[in-house]
Amino acid sequence: MRTRVVKIADVEAVESAFADAGRIIRNGGLVVFPTETVYGLGADATNAEAVEGIYRCKGRPSDNPLIVHVASVEQAETIARVSPETKKLMQRFWPGPLTLVLPVLQGVPSIVTAGLSTVAVRMPDHEVALRLIRAADTPVAAPSANRSTRPSPTDAQAVLEDMDGLVAMVLDAGPTAVGVESTVVDATGPCLALLRPGGVPVETIEEFRGAPVAKDSCALENRSPGTRRRHYAPSIPVVLMDPGELWKNEPAILEAGDMLAYMGMADPPGPVCRAVVFQSVGEYGRGLFQTLRLFERCGAKAVLAELPGDPGLGRAIADRLRRASEKRR
Ligand code: TXA
Ligand code: MG
Repeated sequence: MRTRVVKIADVEAVESAFADAGRIIRNGGLVVFPTETVYGLGADATNAEAVEGIYRCKGRPSDNPLIVHVASVEQAETIARVSPETKKLMQRFWPGPLTLVLPVLQGVPSIVTAGLSTVAVRMPDHEVALRLIRAADTPVAAPSANRSTRPSPTDAQAVLEDMDGLVAMVLDAGPTAVGVESTVVDATGPCLALLRPGGVPVETIEEFRGAPVAKDSCALENRSPGTRRRHYAPSIPVVLMDPGELWKNEPAILEAGDMLAYMGMADPPGPVCRAVVFQSVGEYGRGLFQTLRLFERCGAKAVLAELPGDPGLGRAIADRLRRASEKRR
């Protein structure tokens, strides 16, 4: 298959491109589209065969359910049971990087939910994503548009590294604004539970609700299959260091020698072949996955990554770094 890449900045192409993209989705095909977090690999969420295509394309285990993307609260109500409390969350945080896990309604193919009685729903804060969903006129199931276990793609180049020739179309709107995926929250019970830290700081949700969000990581592993260990990993080892730590004497670092790359918010703690220093946590979020792929491309043999502090977006960045650093099993 030849992948058609449409640059959204090119206004001429845009109207017809959305019509084409909508048609591809309606006909059971796959379209990669930008969101405010990362690029998504989209298919018609009501078409089991189309959704099967997502799993095949990503090489994703079929027990890991997908997020369904909607363009309105009303559209969410066609696939999930939305309580008045949940609606308040949607009204406050949508469009935006908050995914809500809710009781699923009949009619959603079980392949979307991996057979669970819940479905994850979100309304992305990106005009291109919203226009695509409207053009397709159906909720769009979409995981991040990377091959399974690879870093999530935050620009079209990263998408094509993993997906060229596998999808019909890529809508390229440049780099994404947030850079890490949405926050996933289980909202099926009276108390919210964090399943994956992400673009919306959990502290902001707690402030809005006036109640704590459960963060028990053990329950989390069981309830959200996608939060299993190794994930987001480049092909080279990633070694973590705490803020203020002076150096790491791990085998991967020693083996890398002068082909060690570094990223973090402080200056590199020693000689490296390539360093990316972020000026803020927001910049770290935007640059995280892109930098992992950059280091891989430039021939680095290992990555030394400084963890950010835990509150706010730092929690999501630290979570992705910890998973990226998990050793292959
Ligand atoms: O920002 C994002 O969320 C991006 C963009 C494309 O929207 N999408 C994304 O999708 O990160 P994915 O498939 O890479 O991650 C979805 C996460 C996984 O951890 C999955 O296990 C969890 O959501 N999830 C999906 N449905 C669930 C459900 N019914 N119950 C619990 N967890 C669920
Ligand atoms: Mg993913």
